[in-house]
Amino acid sequence: MMERTLLILKPDAYQRQLIGTILTRIEHKGFKLVGMKLMKMTESIAKQHYAPHEGKHFFGDLISYITSGPCVVLTVEGTNAITVMRKMVGATRGFEAEPGTIRGDFSLSMRYNIIHASDSPESAEREINIFFSKEELMEDSIVIRSWIEGGE
Ligand code: CMP
Repeated sequence: MMERTLLILKPDAYQRQLIGTILTRIEHKGFKLVGMKLMKMTESIAKQHYAPHEGKHFFGDLISYITSGPCVVLTVEGTNAITVMRKMVGATRGFEAEPGTIRGDFSLSMRYNIIHASDSPESAEREINIFFSKEELMEDSIVIRSWIEGGE
């Protein structure tokens, strides 16, 4: 099923100059970039994005971290994008994430874990709408559809 998902390459990824490396993995897998922004998140946007975690003990530190420096925010599209990207991202805690996953290869931390990926179709829709207007998302581009869709 064709899906879109929201990804955030977090301030630690930017600071460690891993943006290109991570984008390469996403593109090489076959995902199409349909939205991309370099931004320093405001506290208000960060709180909106992480609203499901409000009240948890780590919420304040999470907001401080995600607003501490530039992020690259992406919407990517492809077959089963939500599940496939979550697999590529790996477990939340870098020290538990499998080698070969983005967190498994680049993080040892629970908080500074490089990348966020939407965890469900409902989250993806909610999160994409926080960061992108309809006009900012590419519709049909020249990327070969059958390649992305895994078809003939
Ligand atoms: P993310 O996938 O963006 O979703 C919520 C984020 O909160 C998570 O990645 C981590 O960066 C952070 N996080 C989750 N659990 C903890 C925790 N126990 N302590 C600190 N940060 C956490």
